[in-house]
Amino acid sequence: MIKKCLFPVAGYGTRFLPATKAMPKEMMPIVNKPLIQYGVQEAMEAGMSQIAFVTGRRKRAIEDHFDRTYELEDQISGTKAEKNLEEIRLLMQTCTFSYTRQIQMKGLGDAIRTGETLIGNQPFGVILADDLCIGDERPVLLQMVEIYAKYQCSIVAVEEVSPQETEKYGIISGKKLEDRLFIVESMIEKPPAGEAPSNHAIIGRYILTPDIFENLRNLPPGRNGEIQITDALNVQAKKKMVLGFQFRGKRFDCGRLEGFVAATNHFFDLMRANGTPH
Ligand code: G1P
Repeated sequence: MIKKCLFPVAGYGTRFLPATKAMPKEMMPIVNKPLIQYGVQEAMEAGMSQIAFVTGRRKRAIEDHFDRTYELEDQISGTKAEKNLEEIRLLMQTCTFSYTRQIQMKGLGDAIRTGETLIGNQPFGVILADDLCIGDERPVLLQMVEIYAKYQCSIVAVEEVSPQETEKYGIISGKKLEDRLFIVESMIEKPPAGEAPSNHAIIGRYILTPDIFENLRNLPPGRNGEIQITDALNVQAKKKMVLGFQFRGKRFDCGRLEGFVAATNHFFDLMRANGTPH
């Protein structure tokens, strides 16, 4: 039902320097698979096969990853190593990939607005690849698509965080609509400790209706002088409806070292348990 998924991937990844000096942070591997591939796989599993990247300078490796590598593939053809390409080959057969560049880093809201040219006038998913999500039974974005089918409005994924952590996230306040679902009354980007209206933090999965672009165009800079998607969603919440969805599953914050290492351990254990060759 929703065909397109937007991936803002222009960020610098300074927390992972020096690893990200010449390499996009989205190409950092969790075991042997780059972070971005986990995200694209989740989009595909949610039925979104048109993948749109808002990219930036020095991010060429992402384009190359979702393309053929003729010489290498020829070399390993018929060998055991070929098995490691099965998943990416399936993604490449199923999805299309398009790219546009964010010229200046002016915040997540600006990155999403830059993607309008690839999305057009239709609802779309957004995945922040740093947040690696493992859904219980079904992928997190697919869970959100099911909610969209019922309510046809923008939806943000939320997770409960400790009071000390609220300043790292967009925080929603709202009233309960059904199990795990809130009608957002307001949201605030990275409130200082003690000022958060709740402990429901937005994590990097969104379904957005296309009027978000108009809201983003008319926004003044918000927190940190950047155009914030949270502020644009606030406008939508006041005009119509935005839902906060407490997804079923687990999230690793791979934008930070602790989360990155935890995800690595999780997937390595899984791989060992499955006896997958590597
Ligand atoms: C962005 C959003 C924030 C959200 C977070 C989730 O922040 O602005 O509202 O909670 O992603 O990962 P960033 O992590 O890019 O600073």
